[in-house]
Amino acid sequence: MENGGTGENSGDKRIVVRGGQRLCGTVAIGGSKNAAVALIAGALLAASGDTVLTNIPRISDIETLAELLSRLGAKVAFEGDGHTIRINASGLHEHKAPVELVERMRASFWVLGPVLARLGKAIIPQPGGCHIGARAVDLHLKGMTALGATVTAEHGAICAYAPKSGLSGANIYLDLPSVGATMNIMMAATLAPGETVIQNAAQEPDVQNLGDLLATMGADITGQGTGTIFIRGVESLHGATFAVMPDRIEAGTFAAAAAITGGDVVLENARFADLRAVLFKLAEMGVEATDVPGGVRILGNPGTRIKPTRLTAMPHPGFPTDLQQPFTSVLALADGVSIVTDTVYESRFNYLTELAKLGAQVVADGGRQAVVTGIPRFSGAAVRATDLRAGAALIVAALAADGETRVYDTFHVERGYENIVGKLRGLGAHIGREDD
Ligand code: EPZ
Repeated sequence: MENGGTGENSGDKRIVVRGGQRLCGTVAIGGSKNAAVALIAGALLAASGDTVLTNIPRISDIETLAELLSRLGAKVAFEGDGHTIRINASGLHEHKAPVELVERMRASFWVLGPVLARLGKAIIPQPGGCHIGARAVDLHLKGMTALGATVTAEHGAICAYAPKSGLSGANIYLDLPSVGATMNIMMAATLAPGETVIQNAAQEPDVQNLGDLLATMGADITGQGTGTIFIRGVESLHGATFAVMPDRIEAGTFAAAAAITGGDVVLENARFADLRAVLFKLAEMGVEATDVPGGVRILGNPGTRIKPTRLTAMPHPGFPTDLQQPFTSVLALADGVSIVTDTVYESRFNYLTELAKLGAQVVADGGRQAVVTGIPRFSGAAVRATDLRAGAALIVAALAADGETRVYDTFHVERGYENIVGKLRGLGAHIGREDD
C-alpha cells in the first residue's frame, strides 16, 4: 500500500502472532530458494535429456520461474509432492522473456546467460525484486560483453547478441562478488569455446550448488564456491538429476526465531558448514549452536537476555545480508547496544520503521548502518512487510512480543518461505493466517 499504513481494511492477507511462546522441537529446512532459481535457469543449458531437480521449495518464486521457462519453449513439470521439477530444454526457441514475469522476480534475469549461450541472442527486461537497493546488473552485462556479446539496453530490456562465430572464453574480473553476475557468467561460459576465468567470483554455497549441477550436466568447470572459477567451454550439455542444497537463509531465520524465544530447536537438514558466520554470531549473542546428526541444534537461554554485538553483513563467507533483518530483530531485545552494518545493500533498513511499531529502538543513518538499543520486550502491533526478509524479521519479532501482532503484505514472505506458519506452529508458536 502506497501510504505505508497498516491497512486494517486493505483486504490483504496477513499473519497473526500471539507472542511469548518458547519454540521447541524439530523443523525441516527445505531446499534453497536462491540455489533453486539458479539451478532451474541452468537447466536451460541442456540441449538434450531431462534435468530433474529434487528438494525444490514450493514457493511462488519457483512457480514464476517455471512459467518463464515454459514461455521460452522448455517443457516443465512438477512431480511428486511438488518438491521435484522435471525440465526438458531441448525445445528452447524463444529468446525474449515476457516483462510481466521478469518484473516480478529478480532471479528471472538469471535466464540471460543460458538463453544467450543456447540461442545466440536474448532480450530480457531489466529485473525487479525487493526494494533494498539499486540492484544494478552492470556486472552481468560486463560478463556477457567479455564473452563476446553485443549488449544494449532498449525500452527497459537488456538485448544481448552473440557474434556469428558464437561466444568465446574470457578473463572476467567482478568489481563486486555479485551472486547473480557470477551465476549468469558461469552459465553462459559453459558453452563458450576456450577458457573463462571469473576473478572475485561470489563464493556463496548457492553458487557452488549451481557449479556442481553444471558439472553434472557435462560442463568443464572447477573452483565454484571459491573466489576464482575456471570454465572451459564444451559443445553441449545434457540433462541430469540433481538435488537443491538446503536453504541456509531459511535455517538462519528459524535460528533467529529460536534465539529470540530462548527456545531449543533442531534445524533438520541444515548444514553447519553453510552457517558458520551465523552460528559464531549466535554464540556471541549467548545462543548455543551445535552440529547434531542430520542438522544443527539451536539452544537459547530463556532466563537471560540476548547479548549485544556488532553484526556486519557481507559476501560469503561473511554474515549473509539476507539474515541481517531477522537478526536485527533479535538484537533489538539485547541487553545493550549493537551496531548493524550491511556492506552488500545500500538501503536494507527500510523495515526499521515497522520494527519501531513493536517498540524497537533502532537508529539508521539512512545508509548501511543502524544502531540498535536493546529493550526488554516488544509489544504487539499491526505492521507491514516491505520485502521478503523484512517480513521474516517482523514475524521473528512478533514471536517475542507481548500480545498480538498482525503482519500485513505477507505475500512477500510466501515468495521465499514454504509453509512458514505451519513450521512455526509445529514448534509451538501461536501463529495463524487471517484473510478478510
Ligand atoms: C542474490 O541477489 C540473492 N538473490 C539475494 O537474496 C542476496 O541478498 C544477494 O544475492 C546477496 O547475497 C538470489 O539469489 C535470487 P548481488 P543478487 O548481485 O545476485 C550490487 C533474498 O532475500 N550489484 O550479489 O541480485 C547490487 O546492487 C534475496 O533471497 C551491482 O552493483 O545480489 C547489490 O548492492 C535478496 N552490479 C550487491 O551488488 C551488478 O551487476 C549484491 O548483489 C550486480 C550486483
